Amino acid sequence: ERYNYGMIGLGVMGRNLLYNIADNGFSIAGFDLDEVKIKELQEGASSQMKVKGTGTLEDFVAALETPRKIILMVPAGKPVDAVLENITPLLSKGDIVIDAGNSYFKDTNRRVEDLASKNLHFMGMGVSGGEKGARTGPSIMPGGDLEAFTLLQPMLEAIAAKVDNEACTAYMGKGSAGNYVKMVHNGIEYAIMQLISEAYDLLKRGAGLNNDQLYEVFKEWNNGEMNSFLIEITRDIFQQKDSLTDSFLVDQILDKAGAKGTGKWTSEQAMEIGVSIPTIDIAVTSRILSAYKEERILASQLYSEKEITSPEDIKLFIQEVGDALFLATLISYAQGLALLVKASEEYSFQIPLKDVVKIWRGGCIIRSVLLEKFYAAYTKDPNLSNILLDPNIAVLVKSKIKALRKTAGYAAENGISSLGIQTALGYFDAYTTESLPVNLIQAQRDYFGAHTYQRIDREGVFHTVWNSVNN
Ligand code: 6PG
Repeated sequence: ERYNYGMIGLGVMGRNLLYNIADNGFSIAGFDLDEVKIKELQEGASSQMKVKGTGTLEDFVAALETPRKIILMVPAGKPVDAVLENITPLLSKGDIVIDAGNSYFKDTNRRVEDLASKNLHFMGMGVSGGEKGARTGPSIMPGGDLEAFTLLQPMLEAIAAKVDNEACTAYMGKGSAGNYVKMVHNGIEYAIMQLISEAYDLLKRGAGLNNDQLYEVFKEWNNGEMNSFLIEITRDIFQQKDSLTDSFLVDQILDKAGAKGTGKWTSEQAMEIGVSIPTIDIAVTSRILSAYKEERILASQLYSEKEITSPEDIKLFIQEVGDALFLATLISYAQGLALLVKASEEYSFQIPLKDVVKIWRGGCIIRSVLLEKFYAAYTKDPNLSNILLDPNIAVLVKSKIKALRKTAGYAAENGISSLGIQTALGYFDAYTTESLPVNLIQAQRDYFGAHTYQRIDREGVFHTVWNSVNN
């Protein structure tokens, strides 16, 4: 008996995705270098599942129906190349390898070519939703080979999360578009997490809320227009007790953030192709800054002048912080989506923005009810270059902008670091300003380097010999 699918990499994500596939009636074989994981796979499978663990790549490949459809869930980078090197000699013409990890899109481009030269299909596919999502319904972002995608589509639709009975998976575009969309998803994820942490800090140090009160605030936020996965888990975090002390766990966690690299790639990419995504950039760099713990301690002693004045009307403050968080989050999505628009042109991905926001509505880490509004906007105008240009979004933005300004002002006055909130506001103000002061920058560039400038009143490129005024 041959199996419909194969999975290489039986860590938590791989195993959970495999079970999800098996739950949906597809038979699937699994392989991992670690024998313990193969054993665990068998033990954890229900009797209805058609699942088989294989101990060698030869047995694994022989167990699969052709064309073989093999999903990789191994760490990005060298492990993917190592697997490909070992498995490709065992495959036959037309077989499909799907990389479901967080691979860098340029690696995917290289692998697509490499496998194509061996008559094999290679696809990059973003999967979001963490361990639980993988098991019960992730958001799935496949891209690349259309022929291969068509073969996989029924399975992907079966295992993906559902919103309004529609599967949270769609073709994300040509080449490595699937990886690219997932990378930007993660960049937005970084930004939203940064913003939530700032709102937390403002409520905690500004308004003096304790964890029980924070829980109540996030619960209320999650029940309304801010409903989202990240707000929901934050709510829960404030209720988690520590098992080692009798305090709340969140208060025992060291304030140094880790990062595996996808956020950094998003920022690097935006710089490379010339897209402004400052809130995502700041989220990446804030994690970097958080690691300077020892220096921060020294600096806080040296500059310990900051007195925090609590807001007069706490209820109003909480509401404003909520609105500020909501709008700054919206602006972060806008930046990420604008990056996708530009990347789509730059790399000829043909990314369907409407489908991107549609499949992000469920399963993934950045799912939120706000995405419904984006979906409506792209349904009306699939070529929207920035979500902030949609008239309905503009109404929403205008209803929150005052709160964002007030919150940013409060944070600045009281020395509560709010890099994400400030940059979201700064981006908004720059993006919505007809005349920026960069005429002066152009003058300076021309002054010291003859870099030339354009004029507002006539066509062409100009250079001036600037007069130095000696006094
Ligand atoms: C997801 C997550 C997932 C993972 C990130 C975390 O969509 O399910 O984004 O991909 O949790 O890699 O990234 P950092 O370790 O860089 O925070």
